[in-house]
Amino acid sequence: MALTIDGIGETRGTEHDGAGDVYAQAIRNCAARMEGENPLAAAEALQDELSRLDKATKRGSVGPRHVLVIGGAGYVGSVMVRELLKRGYKTRVLDNFLYSNSLSLEGLYDEPGFSLVMGDLRDDATLDRALDGVTDVVLLASLVGDPISKKFPDLTRSVNQAGSETVFKALEGRGIHKFVFTSTCSNYGMRDSDEPADETSELKPLSIYAETKVGFEQFLLEQGKTSEAIPTVLRISTAFGLSHRMRFDLTVNEFTAALAKGEALDVYDKDTWRPYCHVRDIAGAVIRVLEAPEEKVRGEVFNVGADENNYTKAMIIDEILTHIDGKVSYVEKGSDPRNYRVSFAKIKNVLGFEPRHSVKAFVPELIEAVRSGLYLRSEEIPGYYGNYDVREEAAA
Ligand SMILES: NC(=O)c1ccc[n+]([C@@H]2O[C@H](COP(=O)([O-])OP(=O)(O)OC[C@H]3O[C@@H](n4cnc5c(N)ncnc54)[C@H](O)[C@@H]3O)[C@@H](O)[C@H]2O)c1
Repeated sequence: MALTIDGIGETRGTEHDGAGDVYAQAIRNCAARMEGENPLAAAEALQDELSRLDKATKRGSVGPRHVLVIGGAGYVGSVMVRELLKRGYKTRVLDNFLYSNSLSLEGLYDEPGFSLVMGDLRDDATLDRALDGVTDVVLLASLVGDPISKKFPDLTRSVNQAGSETVFKALEGRGIHKFVFTSTCSNYGMRDSDEPADETSELKPLSIYAETKVGFEQFLLEQGKTSEAIPTVLRISTAFGLSHRMRFDLTVNEFTAALAKGEALDVYDKDTWRPYCHVRDIAGAVIRVLEAPEEKVRGEVFNVGADENNYTKAMIIDEILTHIDGKVSYVEKGSDPRNYRVSFAKIKNVLGFEPRHSVKAFVPELIEAVRSGLYLRSEEIPGYYGNYDVREEAAA
């Protein structure tokens, strides 16, 4: 059963706009992006939009860009949706609020250009309603993280692999322009050397979460050679940053919040490497792909992050302890053996994309936020602040 909510008021472009208005809007949007942005990216955005409109004209259905974000109420999605709206895109969320996380979209329900379809991506009627009239799809929804996928292995396979395949197959014949899939750098698993992994490095998934991400990547890259929608895989670093659906089960957020609250912290395998990326930069990378020319992104895989945000756990702790005192115990041989450094040269060279946010700058920001009481309710409603358990009705 799906519930649909449409934002009210004027949007900056509707299906009823004439084709001329849509072209004028595309040019205005791209011109506006020249301000403070890479001019090449702005020019490419215009090139991509004109090619999309050309195909839409041939189909006889010219309309403004309308992006469906599946999983848009999550940690990454609730930030991304607001960025898309700010950029002038009509934006729809399909989400089943697996973690009772509907609060993350508060304030958007009457926003012009925003709509919500509440339901499960595995339900055909819900998916059909969500896809109606959209031009691009970003697939974020999954069971995210090793612990939750271990706890719900069947649900994880059903959503992350079979469900994702159903979504992609349902795009055919609808004139969808781009399909962006958020995968994970966890796919690199445990690397023997400290040499950074690039997009061609061997994948060694160590969890059901990573296995299903690798599985859908393979499906997508195979299907995407000839599909109507242009597919791209983004292998994203572990996220950090403030979000409307904050997650305190992610390393930088977890360590910083615990020490800011004065809790003693056990840190396992302190010398293991991992790359990190701010949620706003993840949104930026997705938008860059949505606006890039087909030849740069069709069937491509990009690691998303920054070389300067490759950290060992001990380096993150050192960063936090430059701001506050804290009690940390290091423990060897924990249950999570992942160890990988990642190269972000491809996304920088091909798309000119470089993250703007660093772990270094974020740590004091989160300490301040926690100490000023921003997350007082995290003790009261822990389920909302991390992927610890799922809503019973949504877990079938
Ligand atoms: N957070 C990270 O550190 C990180 C790192 C690498 C990649 N990623 C990827 O980014 C994406 C988003 O991650 P996140 O941290 O925002 O996760 P999240 O768990 O906060 O959000 C996932 C969202 O998907 C929704 N959802 C789950 N199953 C659904 C279903 N069957 N139907 C409809 N909606 C469903 C949930 O309700 C939730 O709102 C994921 O694809 C994840 O693999 C995240």
